[in-house]
Amino acid sequence: MSGNDSSQRVVSGMRPTGRLHLGHLHGVLKNWVKLQYEYECFFFVADLHALTTNYESSETIDQYSHQTVVDWLAAGVNPGAATLFVQSRVPEHAELHLILSMITPVSWLERVPSFKDQQQKLSDRDLSTYGFLGYPLLQAADILIYRAGSVPVGADQVAHVELTREVARRFNHVYGREPGFEEQAEAAVKKMGRKAARLYVELRRDYQERGDAEALERARALLAEQQNLSIGDRERLFGYLEGSGRIILPEPQSLLTAQAKVPGLDGEKMSKSYNNVLSLREAPELVETKIRTMQTDPARVRRSDPGTPGNCPVFALHEIYADEAVLQWASEGCRSAGIGCVDCKQPLIDKVNAEQAELRQRAQQFEEDPDLVRAVIQEGSEKARAAARETLDDVKEAIGIR
Ligand code: TRP
Ligand code: SF4
Repeated sequence: MSGNDSSQRVVSGMRPTGRLHLGHLHGVLKNWVKLQYEYECFFFVADLHALTTNYESSETIDQYSHQTVVDWLAAGVNPGAATLFVQSRVPEHAELHLILSMITPVSWLERVPSFKDQQQKLSDRDLSTYGFLGYPLLQAADILIYRAGSVPVGADQVAHVELTREVARRFNHVYGREPGFEEQAEAAVKKMGRKAARLYVELRRDYQERGDAEALERARALLAEQQNLSIGDRERLFGYLEGSGRIILPEPQSLLTAQAKVPGLDGEKMSKSYNNVLSLREAPELVETKIRTMQTDPARVRRSDPGTPGNCPVFALHEIYADEAVLQWASEGCRSAGIGCVDCKQPLIDKVNAEQAELRQRAQQFEEDPDLVRAVIQEGSEKARAAARETLDDVKEAIGIR
């Protein structure tokens, strides 16, 4: 595949943080399972990204990557439909990252919101490295190496996809020019009146340097109303606005899906670092104990106190798992103190355990035979490499280093 016919491609990555939990299942994996049958999907474990924040604890990365893939398979991600692999096994990501670093201003990386946020939040770690600053640029390489059209991500990652777009635009601008294109475009600019020409140059610069989308719109409108341009010159100037005659790295879109918000056992967001998770493939007894001791509406102290489902994390889980009838029963029973929290939790325990049983069943063959998982990763990595190679060849050819 070459050029722009990759818009049906989807790429997404997940850092290997150990066993996945219900937050991953409902926030990410269910969406992947759906996408894998609608798009050409590349899903990978971002193990190099894990090094950017945890380089000193690298001994768990390999094991975590393996477990992560098992959890994907358990959730129904299908290696027959999607390409599953591990980032470091496709060195083209790293090579493109290096190449992109040559044209990426440091200031673009410093102003990505996660850069300062993470430095503040993870103040116990050494985040003053070159690699950490480059985290979103490595992510850009992950996406651009497949020329993906869409990237399913949570809201916290949208800024990274935006940076990816800016870097792609810059790359195309610098290396996508065709011989003579620029001269012809510059000559066409002069054919507009002086005032219009100056405005065009300004707007083009605002768009190309800062990604100012409004400037792009205004420049297009300006071209549309020019009377004394030939059709050829007009088209040239439309192309020149976006920088080049040729698009080597197409700009991806984020695919923001409505993500189910999964509360943890304490009512906070479910997260391993809060120690409040229900893991995937958890033992049934543990699911039962964890839900039995789970936080409920704090105002419902005694069995006779009526409660407010909206203030209860158990109810938030019901909203993910229960059918209409159970939701109604829980909601009314809670408000009227007609049911106790122990009663209320039982159908949830049953649903979660039924789901877990399905996941465990899918995972069984992979738990019994780790070589099967290695084979999935091996095969996926080879497929991914072949696709990545094509892009990298085009990239190097455009630069003139091959
Ligand atoms: N940064 C992403 C996260 O923390 C993981 C990631 C790495 C990613 N590379 C990617 C996601 C490429 C989408 C596309 O969740
Ligand atoms: Fe929560 Fe159910 Fe108890 Fe109400 S009855 S507080 S919804 S667990």
